[in-house]
Amino acid sequence: MANDDEQFENRDTRTQFAAYVPIGSIQRGQRLAQGLTGGKTRQCATCHGPKLKGTDAAPRTAGRSPSYLARQLVDIKYGSRTGAEVGPMLAVVEQLTSEDMLALAAYVSSLSP
Ligand code: HEC
Repeated sequence: MANDDEQFENRDTRTQFAAYVPIGSIQRGQRLAQGLTGGKTRQCATCHGPKLKGTDAAPRTAGRSPSYLARQLVDIKYGSRTGAEVGPMLAVVEQLTSEDMLALAAYVSSLSP
């Protein structure tokens, strides 16, 4: 949701948005991202860097739009996103449910970019 309706209606490109996520999803996403969920997924920091700000091996995910992040995870899992570099992510998303992906998107987007 736009933080300022008037700014949004005027299509001001500086408009800021707030994303509302289910209660508890940020904490749940943090546990998943840190690999504390019994092998369900891999620690994101291994490839995306300690604060998920990106490395030579993987892009920055911290602080990006939650809907964008969730979309990418779903697309990678179900094969709509392909490409030469997507391989390392396949094992990451393999066992994730939609709820897990939403939680990861909520947590990762809450980090400072
Ligand atoms: C083994 C390395 C590795 C691990 C672990 C990993 N990633 Fe990735 N991730 C990548 C690579 C490489 C890409 C780039 C894929 C591409 O270019 O298609 C990527 C891309 C992404 C993208 C898309 C970013 C964009 O710019 O479109 C998201 C979202 C993402 N990862 C989230 C996660 C999350 C959340 C975790 C932890 C649960 C995680 N990744 C763990 C390697 C990894």
